[in-house]
Amino acid sequence: MNKHNILVTGGAGFIGSHLVRHLVGKYPDRTTVNLDKLTYAGNPANLRDIESAGNYVFVRGDICDAALVADTIRRYNIGAIVNLAAETHVDRSIDDPSVFARTNVLGTLTLLQVARDCWGGEAADKRFYQVSTDEVYGSLPLGGGAFSESSPYAPHSPYSASKASADHFVRSFGDTYSLPTLISNCSNNYGSYQFPEKLIPLMVNNIRLDRPLPVYGSGLNVRDWLHVEDHVEAIDLILHNGRPGETYCIGGSNERTNIDLVRLLVRTTDRLLGRSEGTSERLITFVGDRAGHDMRYAIDSSKLRRELGWQPLRTFEEGIEQTVAWYLENIEWLDSVTSGDYMHYYDRMYSGR
Ligand code: NAD
Ligand code: TYD
Repeated sequence: MNKHNILVTGGAGFIGSHLVRHLVGKYPDRTTVNLDKLTYAGNPANLRDIESAGNYVFVRGDICDAALVADTIRRYNIGAIVNLAAETHVDRSIDDPSVFARTNVLGTLTLLQVARDCWGGEAADKRFYQVSTDEVYGSLPLGGGAFSESSPYAPHSPYSASKASADHFVRSFGDTYSLPTLISNCSNNYGSYQFPEKLIPLMVNNIRLDRPLPVYGSGLNVRDWLHVEDHVEAIDLILHNGRPGETYCIGGSNERTNIDLVRLLVRTTDRLLGRSEGTSERLITFVGDRAGHDMRYAIDSSKLRRELGWQPLRTFEEGIEQTVAWYLENIEWLDSVTSGDYMHYYDRMYSGR
């Protein structure tokens, strides 16, 4: 791939902000442009430390806005697009799927069409990279197997259905128009700056505030957790060394049941807050299950390890300790993102379950 400038969409969100920080620091001679609509999940404060860097540009806007996307690609001589902009919360997708179809499907299609138009016959050294999820593969039984690049798509939630649909469009643009596309499907990420509607920051925030910890169903659902910075390093590697047209699965090989993870978060948060062991155990509350709740996700990332030499560098134990510590040291950030309509949403989503 050429040393073009890079357009990251959704760069003010959780993974996007880590990716933008990484690219801005690692490629000082290239401009990283962050196009983000700033929905409830996007927060410019996630990038405060690099916002005045000379090789960073922020554009507020919607990936469904073809004119703005075209203008951005041309103005900044963009040669690589990494699409992370999305609606990402499964519970919200159950509540209202339509915005998931709009942003995740139509937004991705808009980016593909505009990239094709702007790059024309000179697309060979350009890259369109779709950041996707393991949830497109559906659910695994407890105890057996792992998803890989050859697993059939079988999404269950409106969120995963929208991401699956976007992946199909991306692949079709590679096959039909020879657009050099890349897709990666990653397992659950954890780390700093994650919006506290997702399991880990939601639990840490509730433990510190002495609020109930809602565990869906039996708590025995399994997720494969990967530190966000290990994901970002994989994206960088795939963007620069991945083979166009290919898909890469990214995972931590680090499976945990939800209830074991919540108990670990209780122990870690209580300890870091100076509370005696077990103080917040009583907050654990089993609530009604999520509709269509996938039982287990696990990823076989041997292709990425073998072909591109990737491996996760952070152990789960260290990563969780640092992550909990980060949220507790950044209470101002937690309070700011949970103000506004967050509590209204939270009460509606979680209290009546
Ligand atoms: P997030 O919800 O934290 O951030 C999404 C960002 O996209 C926000 O900044 C938001 O403002 C922006 N956005 C939403 N709609 C937009 C639109 N129409 N136009 C422009 N910007 C828009 O999400 P995340 O957890 O950082 O996930 C980023 C990407 O990675 C998503 O595509 C998601 O499907 C994928 N992914 C996430 C995980 C995970 O565990 N979080 C795992 C695998 C893949
Ligand atoms: P989540 O962070 O929403 O990620 P995903 O659904 O994309 O895997 O949820 C992770 C797991 O935790 C999932 O099995 C649902 C469960 N969960 C709870 O038990 N309680 C909660 O309050 C939340 C948000 C999630």
